[in-house]
Amino acid sequence: MSAIGRPISRLDGRLKVTGGARYTADIPVDGAIHGAIVHSTIANGRTVSIDTSAAEQAPGVLAVFTHRNMPRMNPAPLPWRHLHPQGQSYLTLQDDKIHYAGQPIALVVAATLDQARHAGTLINVEYEAERPVVFGPHSTKDAVDPPQFLWPVASSVGDADRGIAEGAVKIEQTYATSDRHHNQMEPHVTTAIWDADGNLTLDETAQHIFGTRELVSIVLGVPPAKINVVSEFLGGGFGGKAYVWQHTLLAALAAKVLNRPVRLQLTRAQMYSMVGHQPATIQTIALGAGSDGKLTGIRHESTSPTSVFDNYIEYAANCTRSLWGASVGIKTNHKTVRVNRGTPTVMRPPHEALGHFALESAMDELAYATGVDPVALRLLNDTEIDPHSGRPFSTRAMRACLTAGAARFGWDNRTSEPRSMRDGRYLIGQGVAGAIYTHWRWPAKARVTLNRDGSALVEAGMHDLGTGTYTVMQQVAADALGLPPEKVAVRLGDTRLPPSHGAIGSSTMANAGASVLLAAKAARDKAILLALTGPDAPFAGAAVEDVVVTDGRLVLARKNLHITYAELLARHELSTLVADGDYDPIAEADGPKAIFSFSAVFAEVRVDPDLGLVRLSRFVGAYDAGRIINPKTARSQAIGGIIWGVGQALLEQSETDPVMGRFLNRNYSGYLVPTNADIPKLDVLFCGEFDEEASPLGAKGMGELTAVSVAPAIANAVYHATGKRVRELPITVEKIL
Ligand code: MOS
Repeated sequence: MSAIGRPISRLDGRLKVTGGARYTADIPVDGAIHGAIVHSTIANGRTVSIDTSAAEQAPGVLAVFTHRNMPRMNPAPLPWRHLHPQGQSYLTLQDDKIHYAGQPIALVVAATLDQARHAGTLINVEYEAERPVVFGPHSTKDAVDPPQFLWPVASSVGDADRGIAEGAVKIEQTYATSDRHHNQMEPHVTTAIWDADGNLTLDETAQHIFGTRELVSIVLGVPPAKINVVSEFLGGGFGGKAYVWQHTLLAALAAKVLNRPVRLQLTRAQMYSMVGHQPATIQTIALGAGSDGKLTGIRHESTSPTSVFDNYIEYAANCTRSLWGASVGIKTNHKTVRVNRGTPTVMRPPHEALGHFALESAMDELAYATGVDPVALRLLNDTEIDPHSGRPFSTRAMRACLTAGAARFGWDNRTSEPRSMRDGRYLIGQGVAGAIYTHWRWPAKARVTLNRDGSALVEAGMHDLGTGTYTVMQQVAADALGLPPEKVAVRLGDTRLPPSHGAIGSSTMANAGASVLLAAKAARDKAILLALTGPDAPFAGAAVEDVVVTDGRLVLARKNLHITYAELLARHELSTLVADGDYDPIAEADGPKAIFSFSAVFAEVRVDPDLGLVRLSRFVGAYDAGRIINPKTARSQAIGGIIWGVGQALLEQSETDPVMGRFLNRNYSGYLVPTNADIPKLDVLFCGEFDEEASPLGAKGMGELTAVSVAPAIANAVYHATGKRVRELPITVEKIL
């Protein structure tokens, strides 16, 4: 029975629920001392003086670093790129400048964490402050055209403006999303350990260990071979741990100077200023359509804030390039505004989650303007050809997602008039949204070892950011080797393992998974060759394709012969048989097909008309993520994604003080995320099929897809319930009343 497709529980589940899983800060390090960052209270200006004398005299203090005595770093490489993953290019404790509130200005290192943090409070700083630039109506008029760092910044296919002008029906609206923070339960932490030969080990909360190694190598000038990064378990990443942030570099330098292991953990408050955030967006959408609802033109523009030193673009309009067809043209553009804050970063799902709120809200407005049912409108504008590239989609089960999702939801029972559905005093609203999600393709390597005892070991420099990577890699290798899954051990999360890509962009299954598949197949083929060749070969004279592997045995059915891996290795006096897998896909943009994941999601809300309170009461998500490797971990991811989207829709916003220019959030009390009581039963359907273009495993990107379009489905349901169109997230009480 194949392991792929089985709802296998997580290998690491027991370890995690019993407290046996060691997260980065749990790993004991002999002789470790502790760092505490002191950060700027102003958002723009410079430090005139930093008096560290009291801190230096405080109990347990070993060193106080400021820009005066911190060793110099090499300039960070090119702006933000996937393979040069700095969180931000501005390096702190290198000069007296202040560019954002919460910027590190000193690092105290002491024998204990409490001593370091206490000494930090004794530092006296004198600033020369300037008025910070904040994101808002004053600054957005200075929006600029940023240089490309990921996709092209602007796009135009056909003549969108003409298409919109010619449409019998036209929608033009502005939508906005809020600044948000990742709020991982586990704060960022680094333990930096140098050995006598100048090798650096970083125990790191990282979603991208090889990227971390590369960036640290460049900035600190240490060869990559002398750096090892370890991240075995992560207490939440969500994109916030995909790139290298300042504390990692500062910890490594302090450990070097002091010649002791240094552990540096951010406080909860520092999590809101030092390690990225999702920037707000202001988006304008114009749709032109025939009176039948068929789109003629789409224009989508988005403006978002970035730091004063980096061009992070939130590509909110990117999804509009490929989700729906428009007969005359589609045009998109992005602008950025330089403000005093740390560089924004990816937060699951970057780009798509923001852009779909605008696009799929506008589609709902078009449905009401034309009188076409919102599901029917989307079926009408479905396309088999990617409008942006002109290539056919590899697979696109959008129709199946819309129809199967609608059937499961009971969409036919919906009456379309706003405020037409009630349950007692509650207004009931039902909304739908479609989604498209990028399929990322990155090279990955893996190694599979068959052991003398008939077990196998998978090794890959990938990590499990909480999604079930250990488990699915076991399933993939087990099937290729013909072993029961429990015979396959999996090692991840260490740069001494074969190099892999980051656990970002929902790319792990399709890419790292493919490398494990190739390695396992190579190990199996090596074993088969052993059985076929050499003196006394058990299957001498047979052909490779005659042999199948199952239940830990090689079987030559034709001759009724079989031999276990263990017997085979013993026979050849081998302790192990090792094979490598090297998956090197061409970039998606260069392939013959356009590869994306898709979904259609359906939300029902109950709105209290007196209090303006919105409660999600039902949710159905129908997803096309190609072949599903493990329905249980996939469903888990979908549930997590939907809940994440509920936060975006109804609760989450990071507030900036308009005068001080700093995020006001300091802890969970002022930043709301969904809890169990906010979430009803969630219904998850998988409608995709094997996608051979996407990956040898047939899988497409899955995790982040499930958080896309939750917000517009809920916003559309709120409109249906109340007749009120909320074009600004989150949908809070005051926007309903
Ligand atoms: Mo995800 S935001 O690509 O970790």
